[in-house]
Amino acid sequence: MTETLLRGRLLTFHREPADATDTDAYTYIEDAGLLIEDGVIAAAGSYAEIAARAPAAAVVDHRPHLMMAGFIDTHLHFPQVQVIASWGAQLLDWLNHYTFPEETRFADADHCARMAAAFLDQLTDNGTTTAVAFCSVHAASADALFAEATRRNMRMLGGKVMMDRNAPDGLRDTPQTGYDDSTALIARWHGQGRNGYVITPRFAITSTPEQLDMAGALAAEHPDCHIQTHLSENHAEIAYTAELYPEARDYLDVYERHGLLGPKTLLGHAIHLNPREVDALAATGARPVFCPTSNLFLGSGLFDEARLRSRGITSGIATDVGAGTSYSMLQTLNEGYKVLQLQGQALHPMRAFHWATRGNAAVLGLEDRIGTLDPGTEADIVVLNARATDAMALRAERASTLAEELFILQVMGDDRAVEEVYVAGVPRKTRAKMPGAEVRAPEPA
Ligand code: GUN
Ligand code: ZN
Repeated sequence: MTETLLRGRLLTFHREPADATDTDAYTYIEDAGLLIEDGVIAAAGSYAEIAARAPAAAVVDHRPHLMMAGFIDTHLHFPQVQVIASWGAQLLDWLNHYTFPEETRFADADHCARMAAAFLDQLTDNGTTTAVAFCSVHAASADALFAEATRRNMRMLGGKVMMDRNAPDGLRDTPQTGYDDSTALIARWHGQGRNGYVITPRFAITSTPEQLDMAGALAAEHPDCHIQTHLSENHAEIAYTAELYPEARDYLDVYERHGLLGPKTLLGHAIHLNPREVDALAATGARPVFCPTSNLFLGSGLFDEARLRSRGITSGIATDVGAGTSYSMLQTLNEGYKVLQLQGQALHPMRAFHWATRGNAAVLGLEDRIGTLDPGTEADIVVLNARATDAMALRAERASTLAEELFILQVMGDDRAVEEVYVAGVPRKTRAKMPGAEVRAPEPA
C-alpha cells in the first residue's frame, strides 16, 4: 500500500451552496491533512489528526495553497486541439471551414495518439481531472483517447461521434457502421478501469433519422452509458434542423423521438429554447451544458441558467474546446460569470467552485466517486494558488475571506494558478514548459 499525506488548506463541497452565507454546504480547513491510499482518499481532516493516524505516510506540504477536488469538464472536443482560436465564423461556417477539415486528420492513428497525449496534458495542467469528450468519427480517435487516459489512470468519458450526412468525405460513417463501431468501442472500453463510453450522435444536422434510430437503439441496449450531443446553439443551426426534421415539434423533439433523452443525456449549449423544450428537459431529466467561452467566441447567445434552475433543471458547465477558448475551468467560470451578469444573474464564487467540481460530478451521476474530497472517493485533486501572478498577488493583499480568494482565482486564474494536480493520487502537472523538462508530445520527426 502506498500512502501519501497532503498538507494544505482544504475546501470540499457537500451540496450546492444556496448563497454566500450557506457555510453548511462545504467544509473548509485551514491546516488540513488529506491521506491518499492506493489512489483513493482514505481520510481528510485537521493535519494533526490525520498525521497521527498515518505516521508512515510520505508528506507533501502544499501550504499555503488550497486543495480542492479536481475540476470536471462536461463537454469538449478532443480532435479540436488544433482548431481552438480559428477566426471569424459562427457555428456552421466554423464547422465547415475549420473543424471538419481538421477532424479528417484523425483517420491517422499516429496523429490520434499524439493529440491524445497533448490533450490530456492540457487538461491536467489546467486542473481538470475528468472530462466528457467528443472524439472524431473515427473509432481510432476514441481508442487513442481511452488508451492514453488508461495509461494515466484518469477518469475519462467519451465517444466517437456518429455523423452520416452534411460532412465531407472521410468524415461520415453510416447508420450501420456508426452503430457497429460504437458497439465495439463500448465492449472495449466502457467500465474498463476508469473509462466510460458516451453514445455520441454529433447533432441533428449531421445525422439522418436512420442514424438517430441506431443511436436510440444503442442507448436502449446500454442504459448505463451516457449520451451526448448538441442542442439549440445557434439560430441558423435551429432553422436548418427544422428543415431536415419537418415532423419534429422543435429541436429537442428530434432527440426525444429517437429515444435519446434521459438523466444520462448531456446537451451542449441549449441556449435558444422554447417553453415546450424547457418542459421536456424538466420531464426527462436531460442535462443542459453551459459552455460560456464557446458561446461568446462563436457569438451563439446567452445561456439562461436561472430559467432552467427555476424549473428544477440542473446544468453542467464546460469549456467546449475548440470553439471554447480555454482549457481552464477557472477561465470558464470567469466567462460564465460575465454571461450571467449580462442577464442579471449573479454567480457567487462558492457556487462557481461547487459547479466545476461536485456540481458537474452530480450532473454525471458520479458524485460518489469524483468531485469531492470525501473519504472513499477517487484521489483527483487540484492545488490552487491565488497569488500565482503578480497581478493576482497584488489583488490578494486586499482579500480577507475565502470567497474573495476564490473569486480572484475565478476571474484572474488559469493554468498558472494550478500548482499541482493529482490523478488517482499521482502528481500529474507537467513541467514541459520549463527549460530542460521533458516534452510529452514531441513533433514527429
Ligand atoms: N455542433 C456540432 N458540432 C459541434 C462542435 O464541434 N462544436 C460546437 N460548438 N458545436 C457543434
Ligand atoms: Zn461541442
